[in-house]
Amino acid sequence: MNTSMTPVLSARGLVKTFGRVVGLDGVDIDLFPGEVLAVIGDNGAGKSTLIKCLTGALVPDAGSMSLDGQPVQFKRPQDAREAGIETVYQTLAVAPALDIASNLYLGRERLRPGPLGSVLRMLDKKGMRRDASQALADLGIGTLQNMAQPVETLSGGQRQAVAVARAAAFGSKVIVLDEPTAALGVRESNQVLKMIGEVRSRGLPVILISHNMPHVFEVADRIHIQRLGRCGGLITPQSHTMSEAVAIMTGATTLDETPGRVGGGA
Ligand SMILES: Nc1ncnc2c1ncn2[C@@H]1O[C@H](COP(=O)(O)OP(=O)(O)OP(=O)(O)O)[C@@H](O)[C@H]1O
Ligand SMILES: [Mg+2]
Repeated sequence: MNTSMTPVLSARGLVKTFGRVVGLDGVDIDLFPGEVLAVIGDNGAGKSTLIKCLTGALVPDAGSMSLDGQPVQFKRPQDAREAGIETVYQTLAVAPALDIASNLYLGRERLRPGPLGSVLRMLDKKGMRRDASQALADLGIGTLQNMAQPVETLSGGQRQAVAVARAAAFGSKVIVLDEPTAALGVRESNQVLKMIGEVRSRGLPVILISHNMPHVFEVADRIHIQRLGRCGGLITPQSHTMSEAVAIMTGATTLDETPGRVGGGA
């Protein structure tokens, strides 16, 4: 990560209100090439609203965004997806009755080559299964052997792995993960954290929303602390301790009062 570079994704002054509830109250955020940027904050701090605005699931009331330095406006998730931003939302969107390969290619189904595909609209199931298997293997997921297995029969961690693999396979610019380890056990969480490291090592930057401080401190390069709809500070795992991060997050202290070891971190 190099903060002198142009951010891959950048937003300034994002505001989003829901009636009288203020979800975001003027938030700036920058995501640099090859970094894992964690977003932490208490319940209701605006984390999900922030990433929904960044990924087209919500349209902000005010503020601007750019991707690779070019101004962008996403009106719907499809716009962000087409621009290379893949998101795994907090409410995991998998299709339980479909198999692993179909979930990976959901909405992007591949047709068979030649007239079987172009005329008869037949799906290239074999090719999708083969490539799904490769995509999972590339991310170090060895526990999913059978790509024809329905996702509803998978464990929570395996399901999460499929969702992350889908994002990693199709995200060309940015991967956004909202609480990917919230429902997972230790082993499954470690697997998802490893996948995040794998995605970063490919040069893809990741935004990770999480409540889990050890997970955040293990994988994040920088940490954006969201508090009451605003950014309460930008720190790093080197500049601040977990308890300092939690104190800033809950308002027990501020970044000014707890500047950390290297001049505030960011
Ligand atoms: N669709 C909505 N309608 C009304 N209010 C909303 C809506 N979405 C979010 N809010 C409100 O906006 C604020 C921020 O919510 P958000 O979901 O972004 O929080 P969060 O930081 O993701 O919390 P959590 O840790 O619980 O996931 C909250 O007060 C929430 O009640
Ligand atoms: Mg949330």
